[in-house]
Amino acid sequence: MLPQNSQLLAGLIDHDIEFHPEDFRKICAVVQGIAGINLSDSSNTLVFSRLLKHVRRLNCTNFAAYLDIVTSADRRNELDTMITALTTNTTRFFREPYHFDILRENVLPDLISRAKSGGRIRLWSAGCSSGEEPYTMAAVLLSLFPDANAYDVKILATDINPNVLATAESGIYKNSDIESVPEKMKKFLFLDRHGKNDHVEIKPDLRKLITFKYLNLIDPWPISGPFNAIFCRNVAIYMDEATQTRLWQRFDSILDAGGYLFIGHSERLGVERADTLRLCGKTCFVKIGDV
Ligand SMILES: C[S@@+](CC[C@H](N)C(=O)[O-])C[C@H]1O[C@@H](n2cnc3c(N)ncnc32)[C@H](O)[C@@H]1O
Repeated sequence: MLPQNSQLLAGLIDHDIEFHPEDFRKICAVVQGIAGINLSDSSNTLVFSRLLKHVRRLNCTNFAAYLDIVTSADRRNELDTMITALTTNTTRFFREPYHFDILRENVLPDLISRAKSGGRIRLWSAGCSSGEEPYTMAAVLLSLFPDANAYDVKILATDINPNVLATAESGIYKNSDIESVPEKMKKFLFLDRHGKNDHVEIKPDLRKLITFKYLNLIDPWPISGPFNAIFCRNVAIYMDEATQTRLWQRFDSILDAGGYLFIGHSERLGVERADTLRLCGKTCFVKIGDV
């Protein structure tokens, strides 16, 4: 007899690999506990399809056996692989472009003057995915401050997914990945292509500004800041409210007075931060305090 629930049906599509509601619940709990990612009830087929190849690779005949491996103390690498497989990494250059207008017009001019007189600029792309966001930040910066590399200017870019970080570090993108880049900004981002292939390469000046690092935002941060601007966009949306609230509080505490926090278009800060972070543009906040 065919089972009635969709989780088990999803498993049966593959005929031999069983995937039960209990397996799905356990995976949700593990991912929530480690990465803060809150998988919705409707993501069971996504979980099944993203993990199936790993279940097969480990010669497991069902998800319960796979979970035994993933949660055993000596298979931390498999746990990391599972978390990586269940992250959502959608991104693009100049995503939510109004944030880069604020960066260009309101955030950077003053910071650049200060850097030229010996100050420092620290920017952070938290949940940077495959690098489009921090490279966009760097391109805007270099368009205003071409010799930024000669000053104390750094951009930190972090993510929990080592695969997307590897793409970011490679600095290589397909032509189809750069369609969202305004024509006038291309010269700041990419090397001349010499018409050779269908890929573009990020300019060395931008790469020098950015340090890519693995960082799980839920864990302690081995960084002290303070940051002048933090972009954490379309990351917290996958987390539950308590985790989001804690994350906003931690960003608040690591921001410089007068520093900026940029969040995704469908994310909200909540009332807890109203006294310290003031809305200053669409999903952009400035830290209140003596500058
Ligand atoms: C949808 S992408 C957003 C990328 C970019 N910020 C943007 O808006 O285009 C979300 C990124 O957050 C990362 N992420 C999810 N949970 C995380 C966590 N706990 N710590 C660090 N990064 C996380 C994912 O791996 C993914 O690359």
